Amino acid sequence: MNILLMGFGIVGQSFIELLLQKQSEGFAIPRIVGVSTLRRGSLYHATGLDLAELRRAILTGHLDAYPEEAGLKRDLNGMALIEVAQAQVFIESTYTNLRDGQPAIDYCRAALERGMHLITANKGPIALAYPALRTLAEQKNRYLGFEATVMSGTPAIEIGLNTFRGAHITAIRGIFNGTTNYILTQMESGLSYTEALRAAQELGYAEADPTADVEGWDTLSKVLILANTLMGGNLTVADVARRGISHITGQDVDEERANNRRWKLLGSIERAEDGQLIARVEPQRLSLEDPLAMVSGITNAISYSTDLLGDVTLIGAGAGGMATAFALWADYLRIPRP
Ligand SMILES: NC(=O)c1ccc[n+]([C@@H]2O[C@H](COP(=O)([O-])OP(=O)(O)OC[C@H]3O[C@@H](n4cnc5c(N)ncnc54)[C@H](OP(=O)(O)O)[C@@H]3O)[C@@H](O)[C@H]2O)c1
Repeated sequence: MNILLMGFGIVGQSFIELLLQKQSEGFAIPRIVGVSTLRRGSLYHATGLDLAELRRAILTGHLDAYPEEAGLKRDLNGMALIEVAQAQVFIESTYTNLRDGQPAIDYCRAALERGMHLITANKGPIALAYPALRTLAEQKNRYLGFEATVMSGTPAIEIGLNTFRGAHITAIRGIFNGTTNYILTQMESGLSYTEALRAAQELGYAEADPTADVEGWDTLSKVLILANTLMGGNLTVADVARRGISHITGQDVDEERANNRRWKLLGSIERAEDGQLIARVEPQRLSLEDPLAMVSGITNAISYSTDLLGDVTLIGAGAGGMATAFALWADYLRIPRP
């Protein structure tokens, strides 16, 4: 199949690395016919781009460095690329915008309208527009894959959607943000909040502006995705109570440790007796026996409560270029073949 790749940052480039690796293992890999960025150009060739040249070009900082060849189109903007591309699969890996999900939601709609399967690493379209995208994908009989949006390649979505088919998920709790879990883990070993945040920034886990992580917005986006895709919800940002970790002090951490408890920033969803979903993001004190209390550093975890199987906890990577590229690849492999 031909793939059009929207966004060519850490995730997009890791996906190319993964394809090159699979090719070296003898797999027949899909063609990448188009790649688009915001400021570093775009490329389209109907018969496919050369992946090694693509990697060389982006490492110079701009796709202009890709060698000229007959039929190559440069600098089509995102929407124009979707309109011309002869592609069967659209992969969205542009930045996550939780205000209105744009331009990614429009890209996703346009790609589905043109008959492409949709795979997204971008949380915005699934957190904010899942019901409409799901309906459009069904109308067009196209696959909608979003494994990468929660816990990167750790199969939180696949397990929730398919492995638990036939049971009801009654509640979900999890650690969905590695940056805040890293900060809280460092505070357990004696660092102040500010020192732990600085350490996370130095290691590249936290952005210069850490608001999205430490104030719980990133976790909130995952809570919305899980509630609306695995538990039949139709929640919006305003429906999720949110509190981050920036107010937690070293003294708070010490007090809980003395009581054999640990602070964790949890995203949680439960079904009330009237059937409504109650979703929240907040730091919680967990007893050390809780499986989520044992998850330290940048690792993520999800606990599903189910009616037929009880509780199941999955622990694994929550971010990282290759772990996220793996999720895209796994979704690609799940597209039903004729
Ligand atoms: N990194 C992870 O571990 C991870 C894990 C799970 C999910 N995600 C999600 O995956 C997505 C990509 O993450 P990333 O780490 O690869 O981000 P990134 O390194 O910042 O790359 C984003 C890419 O999107 C491009 N872009 C931005 N706006 C665009 C637009 N309007 N049209 C076309 N291209 C546009 C950027 O262009 P320029 O190159 O010109 O800036 C860049 O190439 C995000 O939504 C993120 O939340 C990431």
